Amino acid sequence: MTYQDAYKKLEAAGQLHVLKHYDSLSEPQKKGLLEDIALTDFSVLSYLEKREELMKKGVITPLAAMEIPEIEKSRAWFEELGYRAIRQGHVGTVLLAGGMGTRLGYDEPKGMYDIGITKSVYIFERIISNLLDVVQKASAWIHLFIMTSDKNHERTVAFLAEHDYFGYKPGYIHFFRQEMAPASDYTGKVYMERPDKIANSPNGNGGWYSSMANGRILEIVKNRGIEWLNVFAVDNVLQRMADPCFVGAVIARGCSCGAKVVKKNAPDEKVGVMCLEDGRPSIVEYYDLTDELMNAKNEKGEPAYNFGAILNYLFQVKALEQTISKKLPLHIVEKKIPYMDEDGNYVKPEKPNGYKYETLVLDMVHMMDSCLPYEVDREHEFAPIKNMTGIDSVETARVLCGKNGIIL
Ligand code: UTP
Repeated sequence: MTYQDAYKKLEAAGQLHVLKHYDSLSEPQKKGLLEDIALTDFSVLSYLEKREELMKKGVITPLAAMEIPEIEKSRAWFEELGYRAIRQGHVGTVLLAGGMGTRLGYDEPKGMYDIGITKSVYIFERIISNLLDVVQKASAWIHLFIMTSDKNHERTVAFLAEHDYFGYKPGYIHFFRQEMAPASDYTGKVYMERPDKIANSPNGNGGWYSSMANGRILEIVKNRGIEWLNVFAVDNVLQRMADPCFVGAVIARGCSCGAKVVKKNAPDEKVGVMCLEDGRPSIVEYYDLTDELMNAKNEKGEPAYNFGAILNYLFQVKALEQTISKKLPLHIVEKKIPYMDEDGNYVKPEKPNGYKYETLVLDMVHMMDSCLPYEVDREHEFAPIKNMTGIDSVETARVLCGKNGIIL
């Protein structure tokens, strides 16, 4: 991008202060800043005024899950359907690994974290090992698309190569980068990290499909005849991907999407719950779950909003294609954003000082005509690592791995 183009882009977005130190930068720094400006989507800032409006929810009603006893009754049939789809090459997997993992406080990409005790067991290794189980049983390789961000792309790619992809076939692994969004102060003015660097961060896990399209990865999906994409988070070390029973259940039900869910361990557990919103499938975040909804009962007398999504979704590619032109709602979230102050000092704030702008994969569920919430046993499939200690941590994940016979 030329200086003139960058100027125009920033002027239109009301962000000319980004060029304040331009004249004093070295040539490589100038180039870096212009690239940064080219890569950053400033349009998100215009949504700040509509923040309240964006957070409004429609009318929430219950959506029944397919529970474990019902799944077990049909397991053989579902698995047959699922394995058939896998063997025909109709199922691909998408690993969302572009996040910053700030809560974990680990400087490298989260997937590189070693949860081992007596030996090395990296998060990426655990996930790939679970996927390899299915590959071996199906006797068919499954494409694995890995989303990274500018902040962790090189390290992720190099790490997996150094470890020979933990036994996965390299030709079936495809990396793509998600886009970045700027972080701003409360008035919508973009923060600078350095004189030559905008304070930007990955634009949320909802960007995966458009990033696949922009990175020409969707061409691989189309050319290989992939009809279903199983999207999942990097941080759940018990995550089961391309699970044949789940795939088969979604196909058998004729749904355009499926979401793995677990029974909540308390009414106020901090997970997004499956529901209908204005009659369409949706997920209501725990902070939007009113007391009335939290205590509502279904006809069996059980909590009506009792199933939390664990960030493992199966989307029909045909249905996704119809969503590409639609905009996902933006989540404008208050965060602590490190920045450069007026005197050029780098400040790491103790308290939130502005907003990040993100889209979330959970909002894609609402764009689908139908969704099957599919219950899994949390003890076997849900060990998220968000923190070092305490809830959803390395500690709790290690205990759960132990319960599942995984040697660490
Ligand atoms: P989280 O919501 O836990 O975010 O991501 P995070 O950035 O990893 O962690 P914190 O909040 O900073 O501690 C859930 C999943 O979505 C991915 C993450 O890598 C993780 O697999 N993700 C998140 C992305 O791929 N891109 C993003 O921009 C954000």
